Amino acid sequence: MESEVTATRMELVERILSKATPTIPADLLLRQTLARRKQLSRGDGAWVSRAVFSVFRWKPWLDATTPLTAQIDQALALADDLAINPSSLPDVDLAKAVPAWTNEVMETPGAWLRSLQAEPVLWLRTRMEQTATVMETLGNCDRPSFAALPQACRYDGQEDLFRHPIFQSGAFEIQDLASQAVGLVCAPQSGETWWDACAGEGGKTLHLSDLMGGKGLVWSSDRAEWRLQRLKQRAARSGCFNYRSVVWNGGPKPPTKTIFDGVLVDAPCSGIGTWGRNPHARWSTRREDVEELAVVQRSLLDHVAGSIRPGGRLVYSVCTLSRAETSGVADAFMAAHPEFEPLDVVNPFAPEQPPSSRLLLWPQDTGGNGMFIAVWKRREG
Ligand SMILES: C[S@@+](CC[C@H](N)C(=O)[O-])C[C@H]1O[C@@H](n2cnc3c(N)ncnc32)[C@H](O)[C@@H]1O
Repeated sequence: MESEVTATRMELVERILSKATPTIPADLLLRQTLARRKQLSRGDGAWVSRAVFSVFRWKPWLDATTPLTAQIDQALALADDLAINPSSLPDVDLAKAVPAWTNEVMETPGAWLRSLQAEPVLWLRTRMEQTATVMETLGNCDRPSFAALPQACRYDGQEDLFRHPIFQSGAFEIQDLASQAVGLVCAPQSGETWWDACAGEGGKTLHLSDLMGGKGLVWSSDRAEWRLQRLKQRAARSGCFNYRSVVWNGGPKPPTKTIFDGVLVDAPCSGIGTWGRNPHARWSTRREDVEELAVVQRSLLDHVAGSIRPGGRLVYSVCTLSRAETSGVADAFMAAHPEFEPLDVVNPFAPEQPPSSRLLLWPQDTGGNGMFIAVWKRREG
């Protein structure tokens, strides 16, 4: 019986690995596969996920001449070795963790490369005032060391959180730590009107709404209507009602004539900051994506700039670390928009440091995804 189960889950891994392509991401295939296999135990589902991600995480270390099942075993053994003994991965080998072109588009410190090989932490963002209840109810939760992220906790348990009654009650979201920092940097005030211009499935909309205590309004736009549908489901579950969703293709005509207290552009990007969590993307992202997406990001910032009131905030965030997309885009925006000035903000991961208008958040420093955040204020008058 045990070998039958083992064979089934191994077959699932093989199937996902053989179907994953640059346009069909492994994490999507994984979600679809696990959703269809309701009979799969929680433990087997977790094993399949870990095996798929381990193969992409350790791809350059695997012997491609051996059968896929042998490579899967090898990847899992490498993951186990690193978890037990960090020195099992020598520094000289670290460069293999990312494609060679990465060195041309960003700094690639050894500590970052090493962090990419570790299995990622699952971060939760609890709703305001519900942190203790969530941690007690779920168990296996721990607070991060950053006091300035008061709603964050890490989950190390094995339960299927999506099916847990306390998740269904809307008491927490699964949200990366660096992504939570974006909401904190926006710092929307109760009663304000914000525009989450690339809202996607609403991770940041829900956070902004929570920070506003449900008072005021968040306009949530995205060019993908299906993502906004997901946002609506998530908002209903978490009891978020002070938002309005609207399709916007990122063009020069904003979706509303509203003038906002703040706009967040959580822009589409090459996602290099997520390579620890999503190792398939290391091998499917192209160098050209970096420049192409930088152009999209610049145009999104240009197109929202006119919708911000004097004194209002513009926050630009990307879960990537390439120069062209981060500081390159911020520099270009500054040059084209003298009506905005940089606004210094506190780094939630290092509140003791002098405030800065640009934060480059590295996974090895935060334990979350890599993220860049830039903040401006529209000049008065
Ligand atoms: C980084 S994701 C947003 C994630 C989301 N803010 C969250 O926290 O869950 C970027 C989003 O930008 C959207 N997008 C891509 N190109 C766009 C465009 N030209 N105009 C508007 N949205 C766009 C994508 O559909 C995607 O949902």
